[in-house]
Parts: sequence; structure tokens; C-alpha cells
Amino acid sequence: MICIVGLNKFTGKNKFEEEKPNRYYLYEVGFVTGRYVVPYFTLRITLGIILFSALLIYKYRRRHVSIYENIEDFLQGNTLMPIRYSYKEIKQMTKNFKVKLGEGGYGDVYRGNLISGPFVAIKMLKIKSKTNGQDFISEVATIGRIYHSNVVRLIGFCVEGSKRALVYEYMPNGSLDKYIFNKEGVISLTNDQIYEISLGVARGISYLHQGCGMQILHFDIKPHNILLDENFVPKVSDFGLAKLYPIDKSIATLTAARGTIGYMAPELFYQNIGGISYKADMYSFGMLLIEMASRRRNLNTHAEHSSQLYFPFWIYDQLSENREREMEDVIMEEINDVLKKMFLVALWCIQLKPIDRPSMNKVVEMLEGDIENIEIPPKPLLYPHETIQENLDTNSNETESDTGSTSYVEEIASNTLLKCSA
Ligand SMILES: Nc1ncnc2c1ncn2[C@@H]1O[C@H](COP(=O)(O)OP(=O)(O)OP(=O)(O)O)[C@@H](O)[C@H]1O
Ligand SMILES: [Mg+2]
Repeated sequence: MICIVGLNKFTGKNKFEEEKPNRYYLYEVGFVTGRYVVPYFTLRITLGIILFSALLIYKYRRRHVSIYENIEDFLQGNTLMPIRYSYKEIKQMTKNFKVKLGEGGYGDVYRGNLISGPFVAIKMLKIKSKTNGQDFISEVATIGRIYHSNVVRLIGFCVEGSKRALVYEYMPNGSLDKYIFNKEGVISLTNDQIYEISLGVARGISYLHQGCGMQILHFDIKPHNILLDENFVPKVSDFGLAKLYPIDKSIATLTAARGTIGYMAPELFYQNIGGISYKADMYSFGMLLIEMASRRRNLNTHAEHSSQLYFPFWIYDQLSENREREMEDVIMEEINDVLKKMFLVALWCIQLKPIDRPSMNKVVEMLEGDIENIEIPPKPLLYPHETIQENLDTNSNETESDTGSTSYVEEIASNTLLKCSA
């Protein structure tokens, strides 16, 4: 604010001098410009304004941080759009990518902290995208609305230049694989805990398939993508990545197939047994269930005999012939109804034809219900016998894998183009 005071042309004094001469000295310290006087309190006001602005900026910044805190808190308990972070913020949150939790097919995962404090897991996607990220943002917006106690929560994301990151809630007990494949120094879970985990996973996938207002197919269900919170409550992770991480459509079907060897549904290899649908996830879940109940890998690529190569066959023979006591080398001597139920459900899920597999809702029902209500499923087949001959007759020029004339297990065991689980 500038005080402009006119001079009396007769007396040569200004208005203040005439009316309040004893205060004149106050204004003398102002400086005079032509006919105008800018008194000293103008300087005081200017200084005041500067200080006030600084205070406002400070307050705005504080408020901005607390908005972040509120949003982050709010997001953890509600269903809202994930927060967009800058790459600089991601670097700050991970303390310059200090603690690496692991790496997978899509990129490296680091531990970080939200601005408001809690731990998060930040997946830095390998994509080197040249697009403006709109597709990524809309996909993130979709999966960010997903909220279920058995699904890992997406808290935020980053899109900046070619950089893409996903910020997930942190799961202190890590992934299920280390508990079922007996990694050294890892506590062992009881059969009941294993059963509860399987039920939680089934509920989580059922929600993705049918309960969240859209159908989200996972395509990479395996022990590594089942994370455990501090109470060993399982949460399905990495759902929606199939869409966030577009594949090169020019590559042939087999190599473009997503998933991990040992869990991939046969229809991803053979085109003549049924279309690709949520039933592909059912197959992977079945394989996961067998590994959980037996606490060993299904596919032993170092096995000398084919019966050892594919564990589910062996399990089927044991269950269908009721020869549980003969199962020696695994935990089978103490097989109880809970584990038996898991095996039976699993054998339904790994039926060769997608149409023969149950839905995830049905699986939840079967797992929760009595074992007596579960029928013995047909023996799961490895490859479509009947259709092979037809294909060989009609497409004699096609390659082995196109016609399905090699066994599924041989094919997945030898196919190095597909991801191999650790
Ligand atoms: N939200 C999370 N909380 C804690 N640890 C996590 C979280 N997400 C991932 N991890 C850990 O990071 C590691 C790498 O995970 P990532 O998903 O990249 O690989 P993967 O699951 O082995 O393979 P894929 O790429 O097929 O999912 C895993 O060991 C997992 O335990
Ligand atoms: Mg994963």
C-alpha cells in the first residue's frame, strides 16, 4: 500500500504537517518523489506483506503434505483412485531404491515408505513406454478401485516419461512359495493354516472373477503371487498386470502366452480344447492347491520317470484308489480330510478341458463344505488325445506344438521362451 500525500501549494506543507504537526517527524523518514511522499510505514507494510506471503506459502506446503497424509490414510481404508506420485517422490520413498525385495517378470520390487509413514512395495515396471501413459493411467484407475481383504491393495502409481511404477501395500510375510517349498529358516505352517490360506486365495480370485463389477483375469496365479500379511492372511498380487503390460501382438500365440511354467492352462498351448477364459486361472489355482497341500513342486523337470514328472497324476492315483497309506515320501502319511479336500478340488480345477473345471465360486463352496460332497473327478489328462489324431490327419504340415502331438508336460518343460518360476 502506498500513501500519497498532496502538498499545500500556499504553505508548502502536506496535509499531515498541517493537521498533526507533532507527528511530522514520523513522515520525514519517508522519501519524497516529486509531489508525493512515500512514508516509512509503507516500507513496514511491504515488509509485512513479504512476511505474510512467506507464512502463507509455508502454511500451504504444510497443508499439502497433510492432504497427502489424509489421502494415503483414506485410501488404505476406502476405495478410491490410487495416488499419482512423481518419479522424484518414488525415489524419496524408496530412499533411492535402497531395499530390493525381489524381482519378477515385470520388473524389480523395492521397499519404500509412504509420505505418511507406512511401508509399501514399489514395483518398477520394465516397460520402456513411449506413449503418454494415458492407457496405463486408465488401467490403473480400474484396478485401483479393487478392494478385497484377499487382494493386494494398489495405493499409487507413477507415470513419468518412460518410467512406470506401481505402489502396493506392503506384505511383511512375503510370498507363499518360501513357506510351501521349505526354504531354510522359514517357519512351517500347519495344515489348517495352509487350508485357511487356500480358502482366502479362492475368495480373492472369486472376487476378481465375479465380485468386483468387472472380470479381471489374472493369468499368473502361482505361490509367488500370493502374499501374506502380518497375520498370514493371503492376498492375491499382480492382478491386472496382464493389461498394464501389453504384449507384442505380432508374436505367435505360444510365445506370447503369459504365465509361468507349471501353472499355465493347457488351452494356452492347444487351440482345440476350448477358448481362453477365467478357466485358465482355475487351472493355475488347481496347480497351486496341489503344491500347497503336498508342499512340493508339481513339475519335477529332473525326474527320471514320467510318473514322477507330473505329481498331480500320482496324487490322482493315490486318491482314487484310496491308497493313502502307501504315499510315503511326502506328508501323505498324515493326510487328513482338509488336505484330501484340497487335492480333490485341485484335481477338478486341473481338468484338461476348461469346460470341465469349476468356477471359483464353486471352489469356495467345495472347500468350505464337507469332503463327502465332493465327487472324485475324472483323471486329469495331459494333452488332448482325441483331437491329436484329427489334427494330424487334417494338418499334417503343422509343427508338433501346433497340433499338440507332444505331451503338455514335455512341451512346458522344454519351452524356454516362457517364464520359469524360481
Ligand atoms: N506388496 C508386496 N509386499 C511385500 N513383498 C512383495 C510385494 N510385492 C512383491 N513382493 C516381493 O517381491 C518379489 C518380486 O515380486 P514380483 O511380483 O516382481 O515377482 P514374482 O511374483 O516372483 O514373479 P511375477 O513377475 O510373475 O509376479 C517377491 O519375492 C515378492 O515376495
Ligand atoms: Mg509377483
